[in-house]
Amino acid sequence: MTSTSVLIEPATPAVLDEVLAIEQACFSAPWTRKMLAAELSGNQFANFLIAKCYDPLSGSFAVAGYFCFWVVFEEVRLMNLAVLEPFRRQGVATKLVCTALQTGVERGASRAMLEVRESNLEAQTLYRRLGFRQTAKRSRYYNHPEEDAVLMEMTPLQVSEVCRQPGV
Ligand SMILES: CC(C)(COP(=O)(O)OP(=O)(O)OC[C@H]1O[C@@H](n2cnc3c(N)ncnc32)[C@H](O)[C@@H]1OP(=O)(O)O)[C@@H](O)C(=O)NCCC(=O)NCCS
Repeated sequence: MTSTSVLIEPATPAVLDEVLAIEQACFSAPWTRKMLAAELSGNQFANFLIAKCYDPLSGSFAVAGYFCFWVVFEEVRLMNLAVLEPFRRQGVATKLVCTALQTGVERGASRAMLEVRESNLEAQTLYRRLGFRQTAKRSRYYNHPEEDAVLMEMTPLQVSEVCRQPGV
């Protein structure tokens, strides 16, 4: 897949069903429809992006991933990021996070933060590649299954060099 076959767009309530399906496919403790709807239209701090990828089977673009992040004053908080399995390892999540970092910089934020399951080494690698560093751990932060959270932070906030590479 080339970069031109990934489109990053703001999510609208019209894609709620597709986002819910991605959420349920990707997480052991998924957000509910109500939680997603609240982030989509009931939270002044929330930003919601979708990634549409060209699907050769249908010959059209399908929603392949989504990303919810908050910009709260000086801080960008990465909330939920997921990409459907067939579309992974093609830079979709990187493109979504880069768009969020750019938004944060444009709005004057000075740092970015996230929590990730300790066992989720794939996501930690993704974030580290974009400039995040581990700062702490939170004991038994997650349920289903119970697990510690790794806290990662980028201070000062900047758009990583990775985001400027061709294809991102
Ligand atoms: C984590 C996730 C969002 C990554 O999405 P993606 O579109 O495949 O990520 P990218 O293609 O942008 O990957 C960028 C880099 O992250 C790292 N990475 C991503 N997935 C990886 C994996 N399975 N194994 C090792 N490294 C991985 C690699 O460094 C990769 O670069 P490379 O492909 O050039 O080696 C996706 O696997 C997913 O949805 N997982 C389930 C939900 C989840 O864990 N969300 C994050 C919660 S914090």
